[in-house]
Amino acid sequence: MKLNLKIWRQKNKDSKGKVHDYELDGVEEDMSFLEMLDFLNNKLLNEGQEPVAFDHDCREGICGSCSLFINGVAHGPERGTTTCQLHMRKFKDGETVYVEPFRAKAFPVIKDLIVDRSSFDRIQQAGAYISVNTSGNTQDANTIPIPKHNADEAFNAATCIGCGACVASCKNSSAMLFTSAKVSQFSLLPQGQVERESRVLNMVNQMDLEGFGACTNTGACEAQCPKGISVKNIARMNREYLLASVKK
Ligand code: FES
Repeated sequence: MKLNLKIWRQKNKDSKGKVHDYELDGVEEDMSFLEMLDFLNNKLLNEGQEPVAFDHDCREGICGSCSLFINGVAHGPERGTTTCQLHMRKFKDGETVYVEPFRAKAFPVIKDLIVDRSSFDRIQQAGAYISVNTSGNTQDANTIPIPKHNADEAFNAATCIGCGACVASCKNSSAMLFTSAKVSQFSLLPQGQVERESRVLNMVNQMDLEGFGACTNTGACEAQCPKGISVKNIARMNREYLLASVKK
């Protein structure tokens, strides 16, 4: 199949980027989207041109690195799928495909399609951990009874891979879905109770410091999240935040 690719190219974070046109023939429908970009890069290298920089690691939908905006949708046209798990059979022969980086003030472009998402790391560092007393006879975590509903909700929240699709798809560049998933995965479990109040206060504070916008309940984040993280987590985080603020 033949594609007309329109790809965002930007030398570095200080330069002005623009969309470049590439015609790519010989794309196979079984290629993943990243394999298609590899194929393009081989062609560019053979022609003496600079390859397109893009982020990737696991290529299995686990790490959250492969964050691309494809035809105006975070991770492309297939719901519940990361860019690395998206296959070219989802596109038509002769189609024009726009590929852009995730855009947000708190995700500055480093080069081409790569953005700096260390703001997410700093939000996690602000509170996404637990304290465990390891001296003496510490109880095996597996022997602590946890209501099934809470265990399921915590697990669902923990499947957030921190890709940033929620931020990129939100008109306010809000990081509420990501932050709330990280808050929920701990606050729902007994092990997360020690820092429960300081966690939500510190993580929300850091989120605001990083320059992410506020949530206006459009639900775009849930719709474009490749892991289907629910906006119920945002409601839970707001309750946790209110409670912790009052107690403080
Ligand atoms: S490369 Fe790891 S989720 Fe896509």
